[in-house]
Amino acid sequence: MFSLFKKKQQAKLLTEIDKNNLPRHVGIIMDGNGRWAKRRGLPRSAGHSAGAAVLKNITEFASEMGIRYITAYAFSTENWKRPKAEVDALMDLLLDYLKDKKLLEGNQVRLKFIGDRSALTEEIREQMAIAEEESKDRDKTILYLAINYGGQQEVAKAVRSLCKEVKEGTLNPDDINETLIGDRLYTEIPDVDLIIRPSGEYRLSNFLLWQSAYSEFWFADICWPDFTEKHFTKAILDYQNRNRRFGGV
Ligand code: FPP
Repeated sequence: MFSLFKKKQQAKLLTEIDKNNLPRHVGIIMDGNGRWAKRRGLPRSAGHSAGAAVLKNITEFASEMGIRYITAYAFSTENWKRPKAEVDALMDLLLDYLKDKKLLEGNQVRLKFIGDRSALTEEIREQMAIAEEESKDRDKTILYLAINYGGQQEVAKAVRSLCKEVKEGTLNPDDINETLIGDRLYTEIPDVDLIIRPSGEYRLSNFLLWQSAYSEFWFADICWPDFTEKHFTKAILDYQNRNRRFGGV
């Protein structure tokens, strides 16, 4: 009954969208989980759990809408500075998320990851590989989870790789251009068209620095766990009303 009602509501929202002018790639900074939990007298980890459930819901809805790529910021290279209990809770949540066989089940959503996996536990790395393998034939939407990801670190990684090629004599430094750098980033997909950040913060926080050169931004005052399909639809509608010139006139 509830899901029928939800489906109807979603279908109504989808009619508002121009399917011919969708952002190909949407980035989401899932911010405000801690504040959401604190306001309810709950531990911060409860905010992250609620946030993970919202990500699943929004991904399914975005896929229904026809969004091809989503990148969600789940854990930054700077998040290790948080109290150990919170880092552990986030890693446990990630593990549960990956092991959840119902995750995005029934949808055509493929799961991939960006970020430095080397600092993650072997169990998490294994589950990431399994999730990637098990979803590899789904082709409607790709959800990239950014885990131990930092935009500056990503560019540094690309530069290191280019320097090695120069040192080995296979690359002329004069040939280094945006394409060669872009090819050595984690993302193998189009640059991000729209970045959504809730919770009233107006910054990029080391998210997709290179790929956001011409992104549109959408901010809202609500915390991520309160983010609904309605907010997502509003973000897309606002995006569709923007005039993207990419430096032209
Ligand atoms: C920032 O909000 C959020 C994070 C650092 C983690 C985001 C992670 C999730 C939503 C869980 C997703 C996990 C999976 C497994 C997909 P904050 O806690 O810094 O919020 P605050 O600014 O209110 O403290």
